[in-house]
Amino acid sequence: MVAIDGFPGESWPGILNTTDSMPLSYRWSSRFMFLDPIEARQKLERTRKKWLQKVRPFMDQLFQTGSGAVDRDAALMVSEAEDAIAEANSQLVAYGYYTPVIVLFGDNDKKLREQAESVRRIVRAEGFGARIEGLNATEAYLGSLPGNWYANIHEPLLNTRNLADLIPLNAVWSGSRVCPCPFYPENSPPLMQVVSGSTPFRLNLHSGDVGHTLVFGPTGSGKSTLLALIAAQFRRYENAQLFAFDKGKSMLPLALGVGGDHYDVGAGEAPAFCPLSELTSDSDRAWAAQWLETLVVLQGVRVTPDHRNAISRQLGLMTTSGAARSPTSFRACNCAKSRRRCIITASMVRWVICSMPNVMN
Ligand SMILES: Nc1ncnc2c1ncn2[C@@H]1O[C@H](COP(=O)(O)OP(=O)(O)O)[C@@H](O)[C@H]1O
Ligand SMILES: [Mg+2]
Repeated sequence: MVAIDGFPGESWPGILNTTDSMPLSYRWSSRFMFLDPIEARQKLERTRKKWLQKVRPFMDQLFQTGSGAVDRDAALMVSEAEDAIAEANSQLVAYGYYTPVIVLFGDNDKKLREQAESVRRIVRAEGFGARIEGLNATEAYLGSLPGNWYANIHEPLLNTRNLADLIPLNAVWSGSRVCPCPFYPENSPPLMQVVSGSTPFRLNLHSGDVGHTLVFGPTGSGKSTLLALIAAQFRRYENAQLFAFDKGKSMLPLALGVGGDHYDVGAGEAPAFCPLSELTSDSDRAWAAQWLETLVVLQGVRVTPDHRNAISRQLGLMTTSGAARSPTSFRACNCAKSRRRCIITASMVRWVICSMPNVMN
């Protein structure tokens, strides 16, 4: 049990957040027992009197000499107690007894003591007092149990504004233990384990079945390296298959390293896209017509009904004639047979390569 027993002069929200980064697990009990305003005022009044007696030495007070040295610290405390009484009267804040205890569990005495020591160090570094409980340990433990209001009561009184600064409202999240994607086998491990501070973090890109991810940063900050790491880690899942569209060959080392294939699409003997390979069904042809039309539009041409007819006629011809189903043959036949102005240019055909989902050898 590590008790926090002294408070710094002032507090701010999340003042004890550094405890989050401790490389150990602990239970932090924050018990606050509210006093009603009248009771709080009485207690604060008592505190004020206690400090007031310390301002001037006892003999000085007894004989009313008025010559002894004034204890400035005690005087300050009196004025703080008066402020506190004013605040309690205003009822903007409530006062109560606050008992914070950090409970560590373990079956190795030596290790536990070391951990308690490191907790104490961290809490002290934030300007608090902290002690490892000895004689009082049982009391402190009982007081840390929910609902126990009689064991281990700590002075001084604290108000709710300070309480809000002190209680651990947020904690470091260490990530989901399993990948949240429902399409992975049950209890699939997270994509990878990383470290944030000294806390391990289980990284998953999925939220439900969606894994959309945006990474941004300056050039050379490691985006491509991260992408390759994610790709490599994805291989931990059974039957994982990876298709990456690579810019500037940043995946090349990984692909070679794991025995994968890396193609320069459309260059020489490498595989190329074949968007028009499937033209059997009506919906295939409708898709192809729509796609070719989009290409024409992207070249800055306004598509007229004539263009549209030409495209679908040509697609029909390609389907029945068994001609090679490439954009090149689409273009050749279209020029030769319809004698219309050629609307698909060679540069378009090259452009096609960048936007297609089907890869064929
Ligand atoms: N986590 C890392 N540790 C060490 N070196 C790294 C790390 N991430 C990236 N690098 C190095 O930084 C350089 C730039 O990384 P890169 O992924 O190409 O950046 P970006 O794609 O963001 O421009 C590379 O030489 C890479 O080896
Ligand atoms: Mg890059």
